[in-house]
Amino acid sequence: MPLPQSLRDFEKRWSHRNRPLDFSGVWRFRELLPFASDEQIVTIGEGQTMLKTSQPVARYVGVNDDGLFLQYEGLNPSGSFKDNGMTAASTHATMVGAKVAACASTGNTSASLAVYASVAQKFKVVVFVGSGKIAFGKLSQALDYGAKTIQIQGDFDDALARVREVCQTEGIYLCNSVNPFRLEGQKSIMYRVLEGLDWQVPDWIVVPGGNLGNSSAFGKAFMELKALGLIDRIPRLAIINAQGANTLYQLYEKEGLRWNGGRYDRDRSSDFFTKMDQEDRRASTLASAIEINRPVNFSKSLRALDVCDGIVREVSDQEILDAKAQVGAGGLGCEPASAASVAGARLLKEEGVIAAGDRVVCILTGHQLKDPNATVAYHSATDEHLDEKLMNHGVNKTPFSNGPIVVENDLDKIINVIRSF
Ligand code: F0G
Repeated sequence: MPLPQSLRDFEKRWSHRNRPLDFSGVWRFRELLPFASDEQIVTIGEGQTMLKTSQPVARYVGVNDDGLFLQYEGLNPSGSFKDNGMTAASTHATMVGAKVAACASTGNTSASLAVYASVAQKFKVVVFVGSGKIAFGKLSQALDYGAKTIQIQGDFDDALARVREVCQTEGIYLCNSVNPFRLEGQKSIMYRVLEGLDWQVPDWIVVPGGNLGNSSAFGKAFMELKALGLIDRIPRLAIINAQGANTLYQLYEKEGLRWNGGRYDRDRSSDFFTKMDQEDRRASTLASAIEINRPVNFSKSLRALDVCDGIVREVSDQEILDAKAQVGAGGLGCEPASAASVAGARLLKEEGVIAAGDRVVCILTGHQLKDPNATVAYHSATDEHLDEKLMNHGVNKTPFSNGPIVVENDLDKIINVIRSF
């Protein structure tokens, strides 16, 4: 298929809701991820997501009211951005005749793979999760969609190392973001951001960093669009780690590691990981989706940072949960990891790196209902009664909490409470 002359040509397809490939927010851009023929594609209408301004969140971040955009990937069929990548990986899995596919997951990848497998009906699925490390909304999806779920002692980094070994030994198709087809699909998030901005390039893309698949895919998307002459400038990329899972922040910002045309200082990164092992340093954050210390796309993310004049920051769980409450109050609920983007944007504005007049896009990677425990724990907390898990992660105040009000089932008392609002 020839490449359209202008990005605007892609948007015309969207009106063809009866044509699954044109309707998909990923395959609408299929000439930009050209590895499958139309009849091979496995799609469930992923990528019907939206870009929205949010005045309350803009004010929280400190930019102009019309300058803050939320790219709401929670609207995907399985409730997270993963579907953008999993439609591509599932397509490739069926192209190569895979009988079994697997992934390790902090929950969203497993939910997404499970739903695609149940739709495609071409391969079975095994998902590996760390025990006690997965939010219940996500675990419930994998179980409900019929994936075989293996819970192992350890965290995501342990589960990923193990699933890679199992896939190698058993010839199982691996669907973590080491799978390059996943990243091809995730490029489309950036195409839709540009589409939402009427094909204007924003100043900033701010994204949470876990396994660094999104960051890598975004960098690749912009690099290719520029090379194809479809955009004339590339936005800056800000990758936001949780403080308790900050490998990229440490290596990029503290140790100054750079892509260096692909010849980055590998001794420095391997020393870092060796020390991490010696000290048995484990990732720890309430943003469980990004509780990752050994990001598999580390190298590719260095390239993305290079392409996009990027920057990395870390934010605390306190900052993440406060930002999450602001996103919720602004009308688009998200899970904790997603709110790292908003907390990061606020930090960068405070630092003067982001200017008040900049156009900033924060990626909301997962839906609010993925992790109701974190939300209820935050909102139910008072200064006197803080949730133990929150406190263990350094969250010792909840300035934006909105807890349930306990009232006797008595008309007058209820009315009194309502009148006092
Ligand atoms: N946000 C959410 C909601 C996630 O689920 C993840 C990753 C990330 C951000 C980080 O994205 O890996 O591209 O940097 N979740 C993976 C999983 C690890 O297993 O679901 P990344």
